Order: sequence, then structure tokens, then C-alpha cells
Amino acid sequence: MGTEVITIDGPTSSGKNSVGFLLAKKLGYQYIDSGSIYRAGCIFILRKKLHLDNIAGLVKVYKNLAIEVKAYDHIQRFFANGEDVTEILHSQDVTKIVSQVSAIREVREATKVIQRSLTKDKNMIMTGRDIGSEIFPDAKYEFFLTAATEIRAKRRFDQLHQKDSSVKYEEVLSSMIERDKRDSTREVSPLRIPEGAVVIDNSNLTVEQTVDEMLKHINA
Ligand code: DC
Repeated sequence: MGTEVITIDGPTSSGKNSVGFLLAKKLGYQYIDSGSIYRAGCIFILRKKLHLDNIAGLVKVYKNLAIEVKAYDHIQRFFANGEDVTEILHSQDVTKIVSQVSAIREVREATKVIQRSLTKDKNMIMTGRDIGSEIFPDAKYEFFLTAATEIRAKRRFDQLHQKDSSVKYEEVLSSMIERDKRDSTREVSPLRIPEGAVVIDNSNLTVEQTVDEMLKHINA
């Protein structure tokens, strides 16, 4: 028997990660955010001080990247090459380069191999930008989450503001508009709604309500 994959794609701050985590818990699946795989590679790129135009060097990092996710009751820890990197995945240094690194075709090819191998022996929920469209186009359940730009910006602002009170909503909004545009117009694997995906606009839904909506489709 093969394993099952549920894909969840969507723009930044569309709630993919909270929703993916809760849905996985309810279904007893493993959850993995593919953005974290791109981010994990960036940690090693930074440590090795690789130039971002050294494509062969960057690809080597992803080809040698061993990813493991260990789930506990309420949290999960993300391991790269045996090291727990959970706390540094979202550091500013990584965030600064991940968009550029993940737009490189050869990096995406190497990451695809990791993404596919992770689902070999486990039922999996994977979130990202191209999971239903490129990585698992035959997945039984494919979802696309979205929400109004202002609402996504407010969610992101609330997260950032907790750590840094000088953050401005207007700046978060404008950088989100810019990132949406970059993610949807890039040449390689742009963000798009996978064919046949269930689209859920969760502008006015909580995480629990969004998951309930998805479970309705899964149980239908
Ligand atoms: O979701 P995130 O911010 O952690 O993703 C980090 C970067 O990786 C982001 O710039 C988009 C990119 N990404 C991607 O291109 N494809 C994916 N499946 C997941 C993330």
C-alpha cells in the first residue's frame, strides 16, 4: 500500500502552517512545511559562506541535505543533517536569502527529491507553494488556502509585533504585496492554484473552522 499525501498551497500568511499542523494531528499524519526545507538549506549556505550565484555549490547543499521531522504532542522539531535547526529556520539571515535561493530551478529539483522521499513510508500533509501543482500532482486531496491581503498582513504584523514593537503595519502590508507578486510571477514554479484543488478563503475563519472545512471534503 502506498502512502497518502494531502497538499496545502497558498500565499504567505494564509494560515497553511497552523492549519497543516492541526489537520495532521487530527488525521494522525505527519506534517511538513516545505518552506522549512528551503530554509534549512539556507542555514548551511550561510555557514559555508557560499555565493548565491554559485549554483553548483548551492545544489550540492540540497543534494546532501538530510531532513527529519520529530513530532511531539504540541510541537514538532525540525532536524537538518542531524542538527535541530527549528529555532533558526526563521532567522532574518535565512529569510533574506531564501526567496532568491528557492527560485533557482536546480535547487527546486534537488528539493523535490527530498520532498518525495519524505513521503515514502509515512502519510503526510505538506504545505508550500507548488506542492499540489508540481511535487504531488496526483495527491488525493489538494487544498489551496488564501485570505484577503490586508488580513494576511495583519496576521503577519501581529506575529512580528510580538517580537519587535517598532514594526509598522503599512510596511508589512507593502512587503507582503511585493512578495505575493514575486511568488506568483517568478519563472520557476510560480504560486498557482493546482488543477482540481479545493480553494478555501479563510479571511473570516479560525484555524479550527478552516480544518473542519477541509475535513468535510476529506470525509465526503
Ligand atoms: O513559507 P516560507 O516563507 O517559509 O517559504 C520560504 C521561501 O521558500 C519563500 O520565499 C517561498 C519558497 N517556497 C517555495 O518556493 N516553494 C515551496 N513549496 C515552499 C516555499
